[in-house]
Amino acid sequence: MRTRRIGDVQVGAIGLGGMPMSIEGRPDEQRSIATIHAALDAGVTLIDTADAYHLHADEVGHNESLIAKALASYGGDASDVLVATKGGHLRPGDGSWTLDGSPDHLKQACEASLKRLGVDAIGLYQFHRPDPRVPYEDSVGAIRDLLDAGKIRYAGISNANPEQIRQAGDILGGRLVSVQNQFSPAFRSSEPELELCAELGIAFLPWSPLGGISKAGELGSRFAPFAEVARAHNVSPQQVCLAWMLAKAPVVIPIPGSSRPETILDSVKAVDLELSPEELTRLETAG
Ligand SMILES: NC(=O)c1ccc[n+]([C@@H]2O[C@H](COP(=O)([O-])OP(=O)(O)OC[C@H]3O[C@@H](n4cnc5c(N)ncnc54)[C@H](OP(=O)(O)O)[C@@H]3O)[C@@H](O)[C@H]2O)c1
Repeated sequence: MRTRRIGDVQVGAIGLGGMPMSIEGRPDEQRSIATIHAALDAGVTLIDTADAYHLHADEVGHNESLIAKALASYGGDASDVLVATKGGHLRPGDGSWTLDGSPDHLKQACEASLKRLGVDAIGLYQFHRPDPRVPYEDSVGAIRDLLDAGKIRYAGISNANPEQIRQAGDILGGRLVSVQNQFSPAFRSSEPELELCAELGIAFLPWSPLGGISKAGELGSRFAPFAEVARAHNVSPQQVCLAWMLAKAPVVIPIPGSSRPETILDSVKAVDLELSPEELTRLETAG
């Protein structure tokens, strides 16, 4: 697969989002492992996860453990896979998502993620979401401390605005390598963050790039130009969506979620789908 850069690491230009394999509607473990193995077979080397990707209160890190198990049982070489996890969100088990961006929590969460992933240093550790009760510099300061202590190899942030991206870059002493924000045909308001990442040479990882777990299948019916361009190339509207994102800037690395081998295998083909300037313009304005 064609690659893009996070820090000094080259990763497949389409990553795998792990969330659908661990939250509401998740499949059984066997299907999840088959999905991760199919992604690896296809050249995926970036897997996005979080300690908060779980359903019940007593299974924090369900998705991290699943990924660790899939990597350990993979028949091929998985040594170049960058696992990107996050800390700062919690799920109490009632379906809600809560926040704790305190330095103490982030440091404990990182230790727990290290154990679940079975590594000495986490590949990419992302601060999941700003916590309004904690100064941003304190949360990102904890991430800097984890970098300095060698607990994490690379640092990223998520759900950040341009000001927070610049602030995090300063706090991390120029070591911010990625920003993960929501971005899809339905949700385009992260365009300023994408442009800033392109300017700064920082990876931009669009989350819910297909519109989210419950809406991804309707992408073509909700956004007709994506379906029309898909028909012209005899591919899925989802593939067109990912190819459109990749064409926006060389820093973009979408992380479509998947819970079936078929969907991630379809998504990775976006890397080789060339769209014309006219098609890209149409998709750009498809509301
Ligand atoms: N940082 C954050 O705050 C944050 C928030 C949300 C998500 N995320 C991350 O971003 C990742 C992606 O977001 P998401 O999973 O919410 O939404 P998404 O990627 O927009 O949609 C996921 C759904 O798309 C379907 N899909 C994938 N490829 C497809 C294809 N080629 N054709 C048709 N359907 C396809 C999958 O269906 P199947 O399940 O049937 O395979 C999956 O359930 C997550 O997994 C997670 O890692 C981060």
